[in-house]
Amino acid sequence: MVSGDILEISAPRLNEVGRMAKVEEVPGLAENLVLLSKEQLSLAELLVSSGQQEIFAAWDASGIRDAEKVEFFNQISTLDRNYPGGIERYLQNARGLLQAAARAENPLDGWTPSVPQDGFQPEVGSEAFMEYEDLGAREVKGCCFVIPAGGLGERLGFSGVKFALPAELVTGCCVLEVYCAYLRGFQSFAERTSGQPCRLPLVIMASGDTESGIRALLESGNYFGLEKEQVTILVQEKVAALASSDALLSMEGPYKVGTKPHGHGDVHFLLHSSGLVRRWHEEGRKWILFFQDTNTLYLTTFLCSLGVSAKHGLHANVVTMPRKAKEAAGSIARLTHWDGRSIVANVEYNQLEPLLKATGHHEGDVNGPDGFSPYPGNTNELLFSLSEYVSELEENGGQMPEFINPKYTDESRTKFKSPTRLECMMQDFLKVINASKAKVGFTRYPLTFGYFPCKNDIITAARLASQGTPPHGAASAEAAVYDANCTMLRLLGVSVADAEERHWKGGPQLMGPAVVLWPDFAPSMLELRKRLTLPSAVCIASGSTLEIRGDVYLRELELNGALRIVAGPGVTLHIPKLKVQNRSQSFEALTDGEQNGEAPEELRIRGYRCVTYELERIEATEAGVYTLTEDKKLIPKLE
Ligand code: UTP
Repeated sequence: MVSGDILEISAPRLNEVGRMAKVEEVPGLAENLVLLSKEQLSLAELLVSSGQQEIFAAWDASGIRDAEKVEFFNQISTLDRNYPGGIERYLQNARGLLQAAARAENPLDGWTPSVPQDGFQPEVGSEAFMEYEDLGAREVKGCCFVIPAGGLGERLGFSGVKFALPAELVTGCCVLEVYCAYLRGFQSFAERTSGQPCRLPLVIMASGDTESGIRALLESGNYFGLEKEQVTILVQEKVAALASSDALLSMEGPYKVGTKPHGHGDVHFLLHSSGLVRRWHEEGRKWILFFQDTNTLYLTTFLCSLGVSAKHGLHANVVTMPRKAKEAAGSIARLTHWDGRSIVANVEYNQLEPLLKATGHHEGDVNGPDGFSPYPGNTNELLFSLSEYVSELEENGGQMPEFINPKYTDESRTKFKSPTRLECMMQDFLKVINASKAKVGFTRYPLTFGYFPCKNDIITAARLASQGTPPHGAASAEAAVYDANCTMLRLLGVSVADAEERHWKGGPQLMGPAVVLWPDFAPSMLELRKRLTLPSAVCIASGSTLEIRGDVYLRELELNGALRIVAGPGVTLHIPKLKVQNRSQSFEALTDGEQNGEAPEELRIRGYRCVTYELERIEATEAGVYTLTEDKKLIPKLE
């Protein structure tokens, strides 16, 4: 038995009443049997034997809406094909988990959590951190990148795909563009060090809800500088929505089953069934990184995490951050079973408190003396060694343990507020790997470099902020980008003005100078240190904005305003001494009218806009090596 069995709750055998019913006796279905092909008839039998006869009660007599009945069976056939073991197995699994949920059973019964000790905590900016980055930079050529992006983003109130959201407003560049820029940055880095061409594969898992939006975004951005062949889109299918604890299918009409996303855990199955990971492994690639669709900070510390994995031979490395007790983020825990098994895995936030209480920690999920839970928070950035990942996939087929999370109308736990479905999570790969063989560890970073997804609408963000919980909204995601960049600069000795509290509709937000450092300028702290040749002579005043792109070396800078420095392809730009003072760019709250609909959605979800009063642009586009003179002229660099 592998450790992954922990969440499997044995499903009861098929509903006995359903088994006995015959299709000829089912009202609604009996009158329509003549329409069915052999394959459709066996699907009908399967539905009936799975206790679904009720759904046919609303069917019209034969001759009325017959085409829709055929469509219904086409949909059932698709649902059947897309779930391992078919729809019968799906309903069986769902019924088992729904009954356990109705009894409020603890899915982690038998397991005791403890704070894991298997972590690495490189202090950002320290020599040890940069040594890890150096090692990571040498390993990155063998890395593959995977982003599940099939989620609906229902909680955000943004109608486009989340990848299309601006990562921040100073550049307005979207999240996917930032991710692709990192891949390009890592590629050129690898090419420079190895002298070999390097193309890093990117896989995006989309769903029916996001595929066309993601494809359109990639096309409109010309794949953001990646080659089209580097990017693979895998599409996850949805699963049937369920209306009751007996796993009755939830119908959107008499002939259409409601469907819902099955969760990001599908990514492992798709990587396996598409044959992609096997191919990568055969090509000699060594690492596979999973991360999510709206937290661009993942890649800021990635080379260090990769160095940690490489140095310590980790088969799996989970990137973690300090987590506030009760924050809606999973926690990493060591789980020990009474039978002796022990694993390091993610415990979802809604499971941690009951699990702690059930195992003698009466206070539940609470903060320690440092103001954070002792259990590290899961950022859902997971780095696997490819060869171990491939062998695990061969064994488990990429099947993740499933769970169900029905929202009940009342304490009787019988009726749902809305249809539910089985789900699975990407991070549960940690529960199915062979714990006795795999070396699982985690890397901790401070909150500044943690998890700042853009997932909540502005009202929810305000409510969470008022409760002292991370708001996970658009404003906090944006501020986090500036803050991480300012922190890196400060750690290197740059003088950067402190952040100030701003008040947006989504709650209070600390915002410092708005600094954006592109990965072709510095994909790591180690590179940033090389770029700033005299950090103590760089000073960024409050209210400033700064963007730097490309091969730029900066010595002295006095910035009190807005500045954009761009070195285009083939350009190296040296800036010995620069002083910029102007009216800058400023973040200004939306008016009520703008907030209520006049402003674009991407502004309404954050509650402010970025207004440019004055912006100094220093841009070198023609290939060559230049120096910027003190009176801001570009001249060819003299050796
Ligand atoms: P989230 O937890 O942010 O959920 O997903 P969501 O589905 O995007 O948003 P809501 O719950 O509807 O508001 C975490 C990551 O998993 C992906 C998301 O795209 C995001 O990168 N995801 C989620 C999938 O790829 N498939 C799914 O079925 C669900």
